[in-house]
Amino acid sequence: MKYLVTGATGRFGNYALDFLKESVPTSDIYALVRSEEKNAALKEAGINLRIGDYADKKSMEKALQGIDRLLFVSGTPGNRQEEHANVVEAAKEAGVSYIAYTSFARADKATSPLAADHIFTEKLIEKTGIAHTFLRNNWYLENEMPIVDAALNGGKFVYAAGQGKTGWALKREYAEVAAKALQGKDFPAILELSGKPVSYEALAAALKTATGMEIEVVSSDNQGFIENLTVNGLPQPIAEMFLSFQSDIKDGQLDVVSDDFEKALGRTLLSLEEGFKELLA
Ligand SMILES: NC(=O)c1ccc[n+]([C@@H]2O[C@H](COP(=O)([O-])OP(=O)(O)OC[C@H]3O[C@@H](n4cnc5c(N)ncnc54)[C@H](OP(=O)(O)O)[C@@H]3O)[C@@H](O)[C@H]2O)c1
Repeated sequence: MKYLVTGATGRFGNYALDFLKESVPTSDIYALVRSEEKNAALKEAGINLRIGDYADKKSMEKALQGIDRLLFVSGTPGNRQEEHANVVEAAKEAGVSYIAYTSFARADKATSPLAADHIFTEKLIEKTGIAHTFLRNNWYLENEMPIVDAALNGGKFVYAAGQGKTGWALKREYAEVAAKALQGKDFPAILELSGKPVSYEALAAALKTATGMEIEVVSSDNQGFIENLTVNGLPQPIAEMFLSFQSDIKDGQLDVVSDDFEKALGRTLLSLEEGFKELLA
């Protein structure tokens, strides 16, 4: 059985590879990278490299030759639908028998602009008839680090998502489920991977307990949210992207209640306080 992980140079794919190595011989593990030169570390770890770019269908057809099981880590927003179609079509042509795909929370119902590429990709995968698991990942706790850094530097935890709730968990926890799915764990075709949804107020309380710091918690308007991030050095366009996430969260897009995550992991998720301790160690 040959396993291929895409996005292997990114954090999610790299975590998934680490989990996979615990139970699969490295000789059966392949990593998709865009260039060989930059990935000596993966090679040294005994992982086979395949070169490919989602934007280049021919390269993906070549990269997926002989692969049985694919962990398809979603690409970067931009031209994602065309790129993802290349990957899915190449998988079909190469005879891949299983795809685990990193999707978006409640992708079939979500109205967030971020969800459109994911539901598009889910539908394409369904159409191929290839067995699959849609890993509908809620929000990485890591995504909040710009807000956290600003709070630790400036003493104010500022958010603009009102009472909106999010099912945060650590990226490595999501990646562990992805690695289990890739290995053939008997999961349903859709996993709603969400931590217990809580508000930013609760998130800030967890940060305060984790750090023992006095931090003022501010439920802000959009302008105040942007200002707090830019004053702390985040470029304006990035701060605006973070504001769009706040709007999605305010709108309830990530407020998903499901026990799929803990069932799939076979244990409880870390608390937000423990998560922050790990990220800030
Ligand atoms: N649920 C959430 O909270 C959340 C938040 C942010 C992102 N995401 C999604 O989760 C994915 C993984 O997250 P991450 O933190 O691991 O991101 P990351 O560290 O930025 O890694 C992205 C990976 O995707 C690869 N990639 C991007 N475009 C590609 C293309 N056209 N062809 C081949 N490979 C390509 C990158 O390769 P290079 O090293 O060559 O660039 C990199 O290995 C993201 O790409 C995004 O779709 C989810």
